[in-house]
Amino acid sequence: MKGIVLSGGSGTRLYPMTRAANKQLLPVYNKPMVYYPLTTLMLAGCREILLVVNPQDEQAYRRLFGDGSQWGLRLEYAVQPTAGGIAEAFLVGRDFIAGDRIGLILGDNLFYGDSLPAMAERGARGTGAVIYAYWVSDPSAYGVIEFDAADRPVAIVEKPKAPRSNWAVTGLYFYDADVCDVAASIPRSARGELEITDVNMHYLKQGRLTVEKLGRGYAWLDTGTPSSLLRAAQFVETVEDRQGLQIGSPEEVAWRKGYIDDAAFARLIEPIRESEYGKYLQRLAARG
Ligand code: DAU
Repeated sequence: MKGIVLSGGSGTRLYPMTRAANKQLLPVYNKPMVYYPLTTLMLAGCREILLVVNPQDEQAYRRLFGDGSQWGLRLEYAVQPTAGGIAEAFLVGRDFIAGDRIGLILGDNLFYGDSLPAMAERGARGTGAVIYAYWVSDPSAYGVIEFDAADRPVAIVEKPKAPRSNWAVTGLYFYDADVCDVAASIPRSARGELEITDVNMHYLKQGRLTVEKLGRGYAWLDTGTPSSLLRAAQFVETVEDRQGLQIGSPEEVAWRKGYIDDAAFARLIEPIRESEYGKYLQRLAARG
């Protein structure tokens, strides 16, 4: 399975934190933000992953991830010249997608929950487009899904002033290979972007959109403003401290999924064994 992590954007709402650093490289508690969506794709079974990044940040991402082989992945990089919208991922990623089904996750989205792997695998294995809806108290900052009496999705509106439901579209999406042509065919919105909501509406009108509602056993957090970034960090710290298990560790996910063996896991730990993170991984390895 192939996936894309969209890690560009201008991060204007987090200024001045994003003046010199890319938003998705900022920490969420003890890891770079992008670790969380990357591991969500890994849990969905994606091992070929494209990172879509800003031109000025490509080297930083290459330093962070390399070619991904250390985690049993094949990572590629594509540059999005300007923040022209989420759906542009399918234009800059067309060669990478090469006619296959594709997962897309936004680099600032954090998912958590026991059933997350199964939930994401359903999207990966599904047909047409599969997206996920999450109940939020204030949906006006998101794409919002309206359902009919039979619980079928009838419309998606991007950042509505008067939302018709509390169901927000999360930043995890799965599409068939047609998505490249769909993205190429939609017009730019008033804000000059290729909107993912227009892509989803296209699939909805064709009867090829599945919306899975995420229940209360999931957490879906975004990190787009200073306070939501802090809340996400506090959430990670709270859960990790209570359980002694980390959220969003690519080394751990690679090892647990069998993408790397015990020997490769030990080699990853060796150079970082003195750090808190390295000590955590050592504890996992020792427990077997
Ligand atoms: O988080 C879910 C929401 O994400 C959805 O409910 C909305 O329908 C969807 O439009 C999107 O809304 P946002 O306003 O939160 O998107 P934002 O522009 O903040 O971009 C989300 C991430 O994608 C962010 O990490 C930066 C990256 N990005 C964004 C754009 C527009 C890029 O890499 N390139 C881009 O051109």
